[in-house]
Order: sequence, then structure tokens, then C-alpha cells
Amino acid sequence: MLSRQLLLAAARSPAARRAVLTAPVSRALVERFIAGEDREAAVRVTDELIVRGLHVSVDYLGEDTTDQARADAVRDEYTALLARLGAAGIGRRAEVSVKLSALGANLGPDGREAALDRAREVCEAARSAGTTVTLDMEDHTTSDDTLAATAELRVDFPWVGVVLQSYLRRTEGDCRELLHSGSRVRLVKGAYAEPETVAFRDKLEVDRSYVRCLRLLMEGHGYPMVATHDPRLIEIAGALAVRAGRAQDTYEFQMLYGIREEEQRRLAAAGETVRVYVPYGADWYGYFMRRLAERPANLAFFLRSLGHG
Ligand code: FDA
Repeated sequence: MLSRQLLLAAARSPAARRAVLTAPVSRALVERFIAGEDREAAVRVTDELIVRGLHVSVDYLGEDTTDQARADAVRDEYTALLARLGAAGIGRRAEVSVKLSALGANLGPDGREAALDRAREVCEAARSAGTTVTLDMEDHTTSDDTLAATAELRVDFPWVGVVLQSYLRRTEGDCRELLHSGSRVRLVKGAYAEPETVAFRDKLEVDRSYVRCLRLLMEGHGYPMVATHDPRLIEIAGALAVRAGRAQDTYEFQMLYGIREEEQRRLAAAGETVRVYVPYGADWYGYFMRRLAERPANLAFFLRSLGHG
């Protein structure tokens, strides 16, 4: 628990960031979780996954964008990526995931509106490529804005999806608001350090909340996206889908690139839709630290890898 809190604090600390980026971190460990630093690497990995019968959501890494030029560059990277996916004819199987902070949502009083405009351009590009966009969810201070942005984008792009985090106490209520037909909700446990006032701290409580939300989503009219590597929750999701009388193509499982690959293949072989979240880009630090925080074994591997860079 302590190492998780420390790593999540480090994920936001410029000093820790400098230390990790200049440490001889093993490339192999970073590459386990990140497709590569450029678009071509992302497209190559996406192709490989599709060939294996999987679906993909590509994430261009870049959170906490600090200036307008960078926010524009993130938008341009997404539109170029989507054009590339469309041209390759794989739009039907590969969508994108976007963080509003990467599009500049935190840049001053007009940041939110400017980020929404950029998100609209990304959605236009997704429509041209024949695919969809899902808005990632960041820390709890951004939940309301992200949900409002989702609703606004859905006026023109009704397929825009959003992430909900079961560790937040509010999430069961948010699920109830998103049960309508066409609603795409990716349910995760949550990856940020949150205060007890807003989030369950106990793992069991987070899991129980996940099941309550899952039950609502499976019994609702939307398209649930079950994003977890947790074997128990995957089993429960399958059982709830059967109980709700859902066909396999009315929901999907999602996992992160490099995590439980055998399970991804097993589910796909059983006829489930499985989407792999594929991050790429040079700004991998925050994403990488959150993955380390999720699993002590990853941290031990990371510490051992220092010096073997
Ligand atoms: P849990 O952490 O309990 O892990 C269950 C089991 O999975 C572990 O015992 C282990 O076997 C395996 N496992 C999990 N993490 C691992 C790791 N890093 N390395 C190796 N094995 C691991 N969060 C968020 O706050 N906002 C978001 O927008 C998203 N988006 C998102 C998209 C997708 C597609 C996924 C799968 C996840 C996210 N997340 C996220 C992250 C999510 O909140 C959560 O932190 C991770 O998925 C880990 O939680 P699990 O549900 O896998 O359970």
C-alpha cells in the first residue's frame, strides 16, 4: 500500500520524473507496457494485435500538457494517427483513447473549452476513419468536466465513450446516468492516488463497487467495456452478461498492452471481443509509474533493472 502511494506520488513529481528518465531503466521493462515512441511503432503493434484476433484502443501518451502548442501537437498526432488507421483499413478494429488534460483542459480558464474543441477535431478524424473515441478518466477533480465533455461530444458523435472508476464513491450514481442505448462505458478500478473522502481505499470495497457498477451496466441498454485484468471480475462479468441475456457482441473486455496476454487470447478464442489498450509516445513516464504502482512485482523488477539499462 505504501509503495503504491509513493509511486503514485512519484508519478506526479518532476524531481522523480527527472531521476527515472535519467536512470538506466531497462528498455525491455518500458517496452513491456508501451508500444514505442512513434506512430509507426503504434501502428505496427496495432496490426500485430489485430492479426491475433484482438481489437485495440490506441493512446498517445501526453498528460498534463503545459502549453497551447503542445495541446495542438497532441491533437495533430491523434488526427494523423486516425488518418493512418483509416488508410490501413483497420478503423473498425482500432479506436483511440484520449485524455482531456493532454488536449489542454488544465491550461487556464479557457482550457476546458479549447480542449473540447480539439477533442471535436479528433472525433471528426475518428468518424472519417470509421472508428470511435473513448475519453480516459483522470483524477477525481476532473470527473465532472470529463462527463460533461462526453455529453457535449455525443451530441455530434454519439459513439463517444467514457471511463468510469469503481474506486470513486460517486461512480455507481454515474453509471445510472449512462445506461441508455448507445452509451459506451469503460469500467476500471481507477489508477490515481485519491483521498478517502471521495474514494474507497479498501481493495475489497473497490471490487464490490466494481461488481455493483458492472451489474447496472450489463442490465442497462448501453455497451459495457469491462476493463480489468482481475480474474474474479472477468468471471463475474461473463456470468452477469449471461444473466442479462446479452450476446457476446453487446459488450467487450479490455486489458492493457503487455498485461495478461494469455488471458486476452483465451477470451478472444472463446468468442469474446477483447480490446487491448496500446499506449505510445515519448511521454511515457506517468503511465509507466502507474503500471508499476499496480503491482509490487513490477516495482521489484524495475529496481533490479536499474543498472542493467
Ligand atoms: P488489479 O490491479 O487488482 O489487478 C488484478 C490482476 O491483474 C493482478 O493480480 C495481476 O495479475 C494483473 N495485473 C494488474 N495490473 C498489472 C500490472 N500493472 N502488471 C502486471 N499485472 C497486472 N484507470 C484510470 O484511472 N483511468 C483510465 O482512463 C483508465 N483506463 C484504462 C483502460 C483500460 C483498457 C484498462 C485495462 C485499464 C485502465 N485504467 C484506467 C487502469 C485501471 O484503473 C487499473 O489501475 C488497472 O487496470 C489495474 O486494475 P485491475 O482491474 O486490473 O485490477
